[in-house]
Amino acid sequence: MKRVGIIGTGIMGADHARLLTEAVSGAVVGGVFDLDADRAAGVAAASGGARVFEDPHELINDAEIDAVLIASSDATHEEFALACIEAGKPVLCEKPLAPTVEGCARILEAEDRFGARLITVGFMRRFDPGYNDLKRRLGEGAIGVPLMLHNVHRNPANAPGQPDAGLITNSAVHELDITRWILDEEIVEVAVHAPRKTSHGGGTQDPQLLILRTESGAISDVEVFVNARYGYEVRCELVGELGTVTLDSPRPTTLRRGGVTGRELPGDWRPRFAEAYRLELQDWVDGAGGGASAWDGFAATFVARACVAALASGERHEVSLPPVPKIYR
Ligand code: NAI
Repeated sequence: MKRVGIIGTGIMGADHARLLTEAVSGAVVGGVFDLDADRAAGVAAASGGARVFEDPHELINDAEIDAVLIASSDATHEEFALACIEAGKPVLCEKPLAPTVEGCARILEAEDRFGARLITVGFMRRFDPGYNDLKRRLGEGAIGVPLMLHNVHRNPANAPGQPDAGLITNSAVHELDITRWILDEEIVEVAVHAPRKTSHGGGTQDPQLLILRTESGAISDVEVFVNARYGYEVRCELVGELGTVTLDSPRPTTLRRGGVTGRELPGDWRPRFAEAYRLELQDWVDGAGGGASAWDGFAATFVARACVAALASGERHEVSLPPVPKIYR
């Protein structure tokens, strides 16, 4: 039985703790730490009485903790990931691996020095049954050579006044990863268009339209709209030479009421990707290695940085990733 230590017990940390306790085999929550001690105590109690640590580094280095899940705020990921590598412990680090390219690079270097992969990055869409079906059909040749990927990423509402870059680094970063994963190639050029702003974003440039070109010349476009009001929705359509595959909101039932027929949408990402989070955690606990690597985390932050620059300049930006370190090949 693996004893997982969780750093950060906010929305994601609490959800991961619940899944580890109720829905994943082979692991228990062995300890938790959060700057908010009450929050940590609540999650520990709900996880069968896990130990509440007073210091995150004590948790990381404790002999009773076998692996660490980092679900604290973005800016803290680097410090904790580096400490886990130093301690030789496997990590599931929520996205982003680190908010800066330099921070991600330091983690890559540390892992390279350690000589084996310890880090998995929480790009859970790689475990979503719908995305997997789409990738399988592409792999089987069902639609021929892929030409375009159209992505839609909408949230009902966000805190007003979010920095413009946040739509890229917090939200569209999932599509940066999923584009690389589905098409199995790197993004080499980006442009970001800024349409008329919604009046519901408190001045934030919302929505945004990202255009990503890959090595083979395929284009992936991403509409990211975090104050779309009506619900949480992620969709995409992969267009190939012979046909298309569409990923729709996975709702098995259709509601008919008040003269309208349709599918209900969740209020946020947790119900939409519940199965993906569960499968991601199970894969990580099993040590199966199906998740995104530190290199994938680095690449996502690298492309996100180019997108932020492209949004500011209004120009296309080339993306030139450094060579892939040996341990990720
Ligand atoms: P949250 O704000 O609900 O929780 C963050 C927690 O981290 C808070 O409880 C806070 O007290 C704690 N914290 C802050 N600094 C800390 C430190 N130095 N040491 C320990 N704890 C600290 O945020 P949320 O939504 O749970 O996000 C957590 C992480 O998960 C973020 O990195 C975020 O980007 C990522 N995330 C990933 C999603 C996914 O779909 N994979 C979805 C939403 C968030």
